[in-house]
Amino acid sequence: MNKNIAIIGLGLIGGSLAKALRKLDASFSIAAADSDDGALELALADGVIGRAGALAEICAGANIVMVAVPPLAAPAVLSEIARCAGPETVITDVASVKSHLLAALAPLPAGFRSRFVPGHPLAGSEQSGYGAARAELFQGRNVVLAPLEETAPEAVAKIHALWRGIGANVLAMSPERHDRILALTSHLPHVLAFAMAGLLSRRENGAGVHHYAASGFADFTRLAASDPALWSDILRANAGATVAALDAFGEDLKQFRDALAEGDWPALGDSLRAARRARRAFDLARGGPETSDSGGAAPERCFHVRPGGAITSGRIRVPGDKSISHRAIMLGALAEGVSRVSGFLEGEDALHTLAAFRELGVTIVGPENGRLTIYGAGANGLRAPRRPLWLGNSGTAMRLLAGILAGQGFASELRGDESLSQRPMNRIVQPLAGMGAVISAEDGRPPLRISGGKLRGIDHAMPVASAQVKSCLLLAGLFAEGHTTVREPGPCRDHTERMLRGFGVELDTRSRPGAASLAGGQTLSACDIDIPGDISSAAFLMVAAAISPGASLTLEHVGVNPTRTGVIDILRQMGADIRLHKPRESGGEPVADIEVRQRPLRGVDIGAEQVALAIDEFPVLLVAAACAEGETRIRGAGELRVKESDRIEAMAEGLGILGIEHETFPDGIRVTGGEFGGGIIDSRGDHRIAMAFAIAALRCRQAITIRNCANVATSFPGFAALARQTGLDISEEDAAT
Ligand code: S3P
Repeated sequence: MNKNIAIIGLGLIGGSLAKALRKLDASFSIAAADSDDGALELALADGVIGRAGALAEICAGANIVMVAVPPLAAPAVLSEIARCAGPETVITDVASVKSHLLAALAPLPAGFRSRFVPGHPLAGSEQSGYGAARAELFQGRNVVLAPLEETAPEAVAKIHALWRGIGANVLAMSPERHDRILALTSHLPHVLAFAMAGLLSRRENGAGVHHYAASGFADFTRLAASDPALWSDILRANAGATVAALDAFGEDLKQFRDALAEGDWPALGDSLRAARRARRAFDLARGGPETSDSGGAAPERCFHVRPGGAITSGRIRVPGDKSISHRAIMLGALAEGVSRVSGFLEGEDALHTLAAFRELGVTIVGPENGRLTIYGAGANGLRAPRRPLWLGNSGTAMRLLAGILAGQGFASELRGDESLSQRPMNRIVQPLAGMGAVISAEDGRPPLRISGGKLRGIDHAMPVASAQVKSCLLLAGLFAEGHTTVREPGPCRDHTERMLRGFGVELDTRSRPGAASLAGGQTLSACDIDIPGDISSAAFLMVAAAISPGASLTLEHVGVNPTRTGVIDILRQMGADIRLHKPRESGGEPVADIEVRQRPLRGVDIGAEQVALAIDEFPVLLVAAACAEGETRIRGAGELRVKESDRIEAMAEGLGILGIEHETFPDGIRVTGGEFGGGIIDSRGDHRIAMAFAIAALRCRQAITIRNCANVATSFPGFAALARQTGLDISEEDAAT
């Protein structure tokens, strides 16, 4: 930890920083500069700072300089620091606007820019000045780092550690995005509060009206008690983004105005209900992810799909691959150096992995249009999480992360939603324990509690072909002494192996067929990853095109790793016309454009050897089977019973409601193709069941309502909009609250 810290500006934020750092470590040498001598004297008297002085004086010899002045003052202060700080000094700021710093930094020496880490604690109060400063101000609050392209990773790591030390959660994003978001979440509400507070004094002859204003007015205008000088500064510095936010708000406000002026009471009601739902979602999210994901309280989402939709011809792109997105964060986090990722899936599952790694101390910028910048912590750089890691609905996140955490020198706990809490974990708990891990599950299910410690390599033969188990053990193997070998009874997805190689890890998959082996203690080197579209998401639209009369659809830039293309093989066996165009390689993964044309389908027998290669596609393949001539039989697929739902029962129930004849077995299902009716189907909270039945509606005679669809956002955000664009007559609705 650095010892000499200079703080420029000892107001609310600078003063709170000084107090928090003093509390963190009494041996820190903290100096401050401020034009307010009173603040300096108080801080000296409190023992919060050890020294007061001019900027140049306190910056020379400081390891870290923290600039806590209003946004418009920051550029001049930074130029002055550039002249007097030592060549090793790391500089950060706390201004609530970031983009305006970029122009000011351009003329400063490159060495200075590489040591500057723009930052912004999302904490404050309408009080100001050192007198209001509190050591706890940042405890549990978010701090955004907005590193520049040229900011050195070591500088980022130092500032991250400092904020974490005083209890903050460190997020990261680009300066531009920061300013757009803050304009909406902070600058706009301040403008509105100031405007509203002013309005009251100017209307109804001013004086006395406040007697009639109760807590609604007080709550709404609380922000107007903020320091006008500071807020004028902030709004000026972020004028462009704030004007854009005001314009957007003006449009929303106009809807309310028009509804009132025109007496359109249904529209008014809709606007009010939508706003209340948004506010509830905000409350839930603020209460922590567990409140929003643990079911019950979260709004229930339905899909309504009407008959008569037809897939139009065209080209579309599906979101990034979920499996690869999880792995990109994990390996990027463990690597030395900075990894840049594009095509990242901004779905809830992968976002849970991202949040978990932030809690493990990794700086990750983004996602922003599918792009991430991951400042690798190195193999030994993860930090002990301060709370249980919440992984929502994601089995992949939980099982892979368990492998990594088993080899760390700290304890951790992994939790998930109702569905994930039912999923079997002994398949990883037992082999990890065999490696020496101290890990426990409750009756074989989450939460997982991991004490961390020393691991030794293992040779493990998996009873079922599971990429999650294989990946978990290979990741644990990175931290184990000796070699770890995982043997699979049949091929299953190999993204971990491919990506480990991309990060420079030596991995043996050739000596023994069906076995992957690596030595512990290897270093991962950062690399760039372009994530292709997810074939598991593409599969819904492939089946849609295969069953919609006259359709011809091309899905662009889809991953066609041979361990994932079972869906193409099975659909072709059924008679579908599927062609792969422009086969190429991207980030170590095979990629192609997939063209699907509608053809009559026939039933097929699918045996155990095909199951792992299409494991996630069976819900939608069963919809294809229900549209096919004759019977389709799937056997050797008992794993489908332990996915996000029991997919055999969930599909059987839904197909039954649509009037499709079927029979279930412990390890599979038989479906006879036929005519579909319609009805209300419960997806059981399983994203793939929900999407499969939405596709089924293409061949229905009546409408289908699918309940419990919120989890579609785990893997395919924007599914309904893309499906609509492709020709489905689908709408989505949150249950009225
Ligand atoms: C996955 C592996 C599969 C798959 C899951 C993603 C992965 O699970 O069903 O959706 O990313 O490794 P299993 O390993 O349990 O088969």
